[in-house]
Amino acid sequence: SEEEVVQVIVEDKDGNKFNVRGKIGDNLLYLSKRFEVEMEGACEASLACTTCHVYVDHDYLDLLPEATETEEDLLDQAPFLKENSRLGCQIILNKQLDGLKVTLPAATKNFYVDGHKPTPH
Ligand code: FES
Repeated sequence: SEEEVVQVIVEDKDGNKFNVRGKIGDNLLYLSKRFEVEMEGACEASLACTTCHVYVDHDYLDLLPEATETEEDLLDQAPFLKENSRLGCQIILNKQLDGLKVTLPAATKNFYVDGHKPTPH
């Protein structure tokens, strides 16, 4: 139903904006992929890469659950880290997040491709 619709705007590194329409419970990574946004997600949301790196609009940052230690450790290895960086695959939509804006970084790095696996926890 309309009740469950959550709108998200994803801006890619070139400034193209995508209006992504999801519903409560959707994972931002998979939702973005459905809308053909270039969010890679190399590890399929298993919290073992940084290719789903996004910057979260400051108005929404506090509405997200705090990052786990594993997410923080991964983000530390992400290129172009900012204080509002999060991993897109850890963002699950809820009604409060309606209108969420996220921006993609200039580049991401795939540790598996480069042969550097993130340190195990
Ligand atoms: Fe790998 Fe999000 S897809 S951590």
